[in-house]
Amino acid sequence: MPFYSEELKEEVRSANDIVDVISGYVRLQKKGSSYVGLCPFHNEKTGSFHVSQNKQLYHCFGCGVGGDVFGFLMEYENFTFREAMQQLADRAGIVLPQQEMTEQEKRESDYRSMLLDVNREAGKYYYLLLRSQHGAHALEYFRGRELSDATMKKFGLGYADKYSDDLYRYLKTKGYGDRLLKDSGLITIDEKRGAHDRFWNRAMFPIMNVHRKIIGFGGRVMGEGEPKYLNSPETQIFDKSRNLYGLHLARQSGRPQMLLCEGYMDVIALHQAGFDNAVASLGTAFTSGHASLLKRYAKEVYLTFDSDGAGVKAALRAIPILKEAGLTAKVVNMNPYKDPDEFIKALGADAYQERIDQAENSFMFEIRILEHNYNMSDPQGKTAFYNEAARKLLEFDEALERNNYIEAVAQKYQIGFENLRRLVAQVGTQTGLVKKHEPLKTGNRKKDLQKEDGITKSQKLLLTWLSEEPALYPVIREYITPEDFRMRFVRMLPKHCLHSWKREI
Ligand code: UTP
Ligand code: MN
Repeated sequence: MPFYSEELKEEVRSANDIVDVISGYVRLQKKGSSYVGLCPFHNEKTGSFHVSQNKQLYHCFGCGVGGDVFGFLMEYENFTFREAMQQLADRAGIVLPQQEMTEQEKRESDYRSMLLDVNREAGKYYYLLLRSQHGAHALEYFRGRELSDATMKKFGLGYADKYSDDLYRYLKTKGYGDRLLKDSGLITIDEKRGAHDRFWNRAMFPIMNVHRKIIGFGGRVMGEGEPKYLNSPETQIFDKSRNLYGLHLARQSGRPQMLLCEGYMDVIALHQAGFDNAVASLGTAFTSGHASLLKRYAKEVYLTFDSDGAGVKAALRAIPILKEAGLTAKVVNMNPYKDPDEFIKALGADAYQERIDQAENSFMFEIRILEHNYNMSDPQGKTAFYNEAARKLLEFDEALERNNYIEAVAQKYQIGFENLRRLVAQVGTQTGLVKKHEPLKTGNRKKDLQKEDGITKSQKLLLTWLSEEPALYPVIREYITPEDFRMRFVRMLPKHCLHSWKREI
């Protein structure tokens, strides 16, 4: 292990503000004395992840993780301490003393990079196999799916042979040990049956991280068969909720939008058609970890999920996660085709671009899907739908934004704007969802409101009554003058009001 002095660690630590560093990964908002965001280490919808600038520490009240800036990078990037130190030193322009390590020491200390080596070797092996005689039918399969040689190369596509352990034997010739091979997830080692490859006779899709390093594979049966796709298991280098297929390419597209799809083949077909900003999750549900990853490269996400029930469900799940991360979401309609791959094959890139241009606002999509749950030809069903829509409209904290959406929904579902607005207000009061005050933007305002004491409250209440019932004024004027009101803005009110009330009476 390399040794760094405490002073050097301290120098690197103090040159890297934890809020700045973590903001590169998580969207943080200032709340009081700390910064709060969605925890990148577990899936959540409300922020329990706190970063304290004073203490230079982070802590998640949801899952309990916490530590300093080094700890964050070790946790998030799976870095060793040395790697975290190096990254933060580079970031601050501090030159670390050279650590002399023998090849052997490096190998031992850096298990992760060895796992990356194994994956790279396996990737090369599958790649060459696809282009050899053994891979002829796999190549035919990919060609049948209209992939060009250039696309296959760009995505490093390959083939895993029919033998049960040829990859294992190949990797052994490269000198890798059984434990490492087992930990890579590419080989299973069983006492009775010995070593076996995970992937047999499959079309192979290497999965890369943003640094273009292979961290795992997806393998597809060529034709029918179960499972259709088999993936590498999660390993020390393969975290499915923190990586997206195609992101190493998409992040360089320079576009402010990302196309989020469901399948490997969708990503590849989209890139081939010129949509170089397409990514997909790795056979798992979309998580807040994915959203914060996207947030680093884009502002807007177009959901281009399958047009079946499962795709709609996945979109409904992803929308709030994207919104919570501060991304705008839109939904691309691919009807009557199943997925982007099939759509593009049938109608081409221009037609797909049109669908992108016509993508539906995610809120309007949610409302449209909601409508399907109600019988709109029945007055009761219709009323229930409007009530539910009103409840959803209350999600918008800002009055202006809420009104814009009320207008859009009113127009689309042919309700009068005023009627819907009143319904929203009514539902809000009933459910206690309407905020009595403007949304709390900063922690300070929240604190002010919390501090509001009984006296201020009573004074406000009294003013409300007075403004509604000026006849009360003569009754109280003997006891109360404008100067009795505490808050400055409140104090100004009675002055004006009292004059007019005096005139009225
Ligand atoms: P799809 O079946 O929609 O993928 O599954 P696709 O890319 O459209 O498949 P084909 O090749 O065109 O028929 C979406 C994603 O879900 C994961 C894979 O990541 C796939 O790309 N998946 C699907 C699995 O991991 N295992 C499966 O058995 C099926
Ligand atoms: Mn498909």
